[in-house]
Amino acid sequence: MKPTNLSPIRVGLLGIGTVGSGTYNVLQRNQEEIRRRAGRGIEITMVADLDVARAKAAVGAGVQVVDDARKVVASPDVDIVIELIGGYGIAKQLVLEAIEAGKHVVTANKALLAVHGTEIFAAAHRKGVMVAFEAAVAGGIPIIKALREGLTANSIQWIAGIINGTTNFILSEMRDKGLDFDAVLKEAQRLGYAEADPTFDIEGVDAGHKVTLMSAIAFGIPVQFDKAYVEGITGLAAQDIRYAEQLGYRIKLLGITKRAANGIELRVHPSLVPAKRLIANVEGAMNAVVVQGDAVGTTLYYGKGAGSEPTASAVIADLVDIARLHTADPEHRVPHLAFQPDAMSDLPVVPMAEVVTSYYLRLKVADEAGVLAKVTGILAGAGISIDAMLQREADEVGGEGSTHTDLIILTHDCVEAKMNSALAQMQGLPTVLAPITRIRKEELA
Ligand code: NDP
Ligand code: HSE
Repeated sequence: MKPTNLSPIRVGLLGIGTVGSGTYNVLQRNQEEIRRRAGRGIEITMVADLDVARAKAAVGAGVQVVDDARKVVASPDVDIVIELIGGYGIAKQLVLEAIEAGKHVVTANKALLAVHGTEIFAAAHRKGVMVAFEAAVAGGIPIIKALREGLTANSIQWIAGIINGTTNFILSEMRDKGLDFDAVLKEAQRLGYAEADPTFDIEGVDAGHKVTLMSAIAFGIPVQFDKAYVEGITGLAAQDIRYAEQLGYRIKLLGITKRAANGIELRVHPSLVPAKRLIANVEGAMNAVVVQGDAVGTTLYYGKGAGSEPTASAVIADLVDIARLHTADPEHRVPHLAFQPDAMSDLPVVPMAEVVTSYYLRLKVADEAGVLAKVTGILAGAGISIDAMLQREADEVGGEGSTHTDLIILTHDCVEAKMNSALAQMQGLPTVLAPITRIRKEELA
């Protein structure tokens, strides 16, 4: 190998929690190989954390530890700032200050970029610095690199991903053990998968942030989380998972972005997926992303979407990219969102009411003559075609002598607005005894 005389690139780390400590440890353990790949050493020289004692215990004696992150951002001895604090508050200020100080930034903070990405990328472009965020989507899976570089020849048609490990764990356990949502959430918290406040996970917000970033890169549109449709898994019942199984489907929380005739679809919601698809068999806290490109066809990326070292793997890949590219003319670097900033598209995000998809419906109905005819009559009147139906014996659903039963309907594609109006009519029938469950269905063919 040609010897390199370049001094190590100096990194300041903000927040040495789960991902920060993994980043420090992997950089230490693999420093020789990383140096051979990057062409120079990569050294964390400064760390900021609120808990200085804990941070000092986590790093070697040569690393300066401070409690004020601004000192790292302002230090002339730091070339790259890694932001691993999280959230939109102080993290946003620190990232913008680092950019203003002419430093490259690496972050795993999907929430920050999905909401404030436009401002942050514009600031970075003005200053000629890189903001790298491989770890922000699907943890250790190099999906940003794949979309931005590996698939650059393609017109991307759609992306569908299991991009939140907590909810995939919950859904897997509900299916395996026949448990209800609340019981499994407690188990996920006990095992440390879910956040202490798991709202972002279970309400689909975390997946919404991630799919917003993938959508921007895939289609060259601005990051616009505020336009994403986001629905979590809190309304799912164990019987929906069971009925889906009987019909040959699994239920997954999918982040979906798709090129449609009227713009770009951007949505997160539970989805029935055919059990035979590879992504339907991604279990536990694992992540997977399917990308459909016009030239390459279907590609699948699978791995750990969270955790200390899997996420550190992505953070360090960004550090290596910056170490290799930071002397390059900014115009010759890979653009933040894959497309040149002056070549972004203004394709609109399609409102959910205009999205076309198929549906699973579960209706709790009175077990009497004419009920099915009324329900199918409403669907027919709305121009919605039925694909399959399942009706259980009333005794099986409600116990011996039960006067109600479950009616499960799978539909063909229709526009969401039509389904909303048909649902309102069905819900008004006196023989429909509970709120109707509606889950969208994605064939991913
Ligand atoms: P942690 O909570 O484990 O770590 C955050 C660290 O930042 C803590 O040590 C915290 O200290 C410290 N901190 C908080 N405020 C400040 C401040 N003002 N100045 C300096 N340090 C501060 O979070 P994670 O490591 O899990 O997550 C970091 C980022 O990575 C987040 O954006 C997250 O979304 C993202 N991410 C996380 C993944 C994971 O598997 N954990 C996976 C992918 C992305 P204290 O504990 O004292 O508050
Ligand atoms: N809470 C997230 C998850 C962490 O469960 O996937 C990784 O972003």
